Amino acid sequence: MADIVQRCVVGFRERFGADPKLVVRAPGRVNLIGEHTDYNEGYVFPAAIDRYVVFAASPRSDNQAVIRAVSFDQDAEFTINRGLSSEGHWSDYVKGMVNEFQEMNLRMAGFDATIAGDVPVGAGLSSSAAVEMAVGRGLLELNDISMPGPKLALAGQAAENSFVGVNCGIMDQFVSANGREGHALFLDCRDLSFDLVPVGDEDLRIVICNSGVKRGLTDSVYNERRSACEHGVRQLSLATGESFRSLRDVTIEHLQDYSGALTEEIYGRCRHVITEIGRTEQAVDALKEGDVETFGGLMGESHVSLRDDYEVSGPELDRLVEIVQRVDGVVGARMTGAGFGGCIVCLAHDAAVSALSSAVESGYNANSEYTAEVYACRPVNGVGRIE
Ligand code: GLA
Repeated sequence: MADIVQRCVVGFRERFGADPKLVVRAPGRVNLIGEHTDYNEGYVFPAAIDRYVVFAASPRSDNQAVIRAVSFDQDAEFTINRGLSSEGHWSDYVKGMVNEFQEMNLRMAGFDATIAGDVPVGAGLSSSAAVEMAVGRGLLELNDISMPGPKLALAGQAAENSFVGVNCGIMDQFVSANGREGHALFLDCRDLSFDLVPVGDEDLRIVICNSGVKRGLTDSVYNERRSACEHGVRQLSLATGESFRSLRDVTIEHLQDYSGALTEEIYGRCRHVITEIGRTEQAVDALKEGDVETFGGLMGESHVSLRDDYEVSGPELDRLVEIVQRVDGVVGARMTGAGFGGCIVCLAHDAAVSALSSAVESGYNANSEYTAEVYACRPVNGVGRIE
């Protein structure tokens, strides 16, 4: 991590000829269980991980924003005024945050900034939420504005929805803003109440395997899944005469009794969400009681449901899950994040981590066009300033 901070600060000096006034870093995340439930007002259980986006900045005396993305060696510039619009460019994440703050009637001065990071892009580890939270916290501090983490997370989600055009839920921004070292965050996405639960230690490791498959076309398919859930809620409300607000309100019995109101496809989408909300609650209870075996079993069920009912996995993620599940000492594994490529997350006893890596090497890397990267990660604190 010191490395990225240094890259970001050195990049700032090179570009702007002075030290930045402040440096902020925000983590990526891995979701342990509770996938595609956040925008259905369900539960999620992610942890912020030790992969970061760093934002170094100083104020300017005019209303220009000048940003260098150190990793791409590219600059972007815009004028801070009302009615900013997106351009389909990486700088939209920065502009989107500025725009949201302006919508909240917060005054934003111009700034010079650099951004660097080591959260892999397009791997389902929320590099974009980390950019939003690092930029957001950085700009608030530059302008002497305080804002609680949950509110900052909502601003980031709004920026992503309106500027980037992905109708994402709140999970990624929320954990990047509010994560805690050594803990995963059990979040109720209906009212944003949350509970920090210890997870991952010297014996039980959170291991990520990046399949090497970059997500493609995710945004449109993601938005489609979200619409399918909303459609399911409307159809089930009509059929039952109840006014469901979201799939959180629908029980599995409702779904089974009124299956005739839905196409097979929408039925599958709804079944995934409803069962996943239940699994997440159950998994967190099990973990709190120290029952990691049950937690691991539920991770496996989650994967199957995402593969068969929600149809957001893919052959590489499925293969990786099968390979690691066979390794002794691996407690559970599943795809993590939106899907369509990216990563799987595993919970494994420390003694099993090297066998897990070897299994991926021989079972996946040796006969795939992709090379998976395996790393044990550590739950860390959410966004914060580096002094
Ligand atoms: C992406 C979105 C999140 C969430 C996950 C799926 O990461 O940004 O809001 O919906 O997909 O669980």
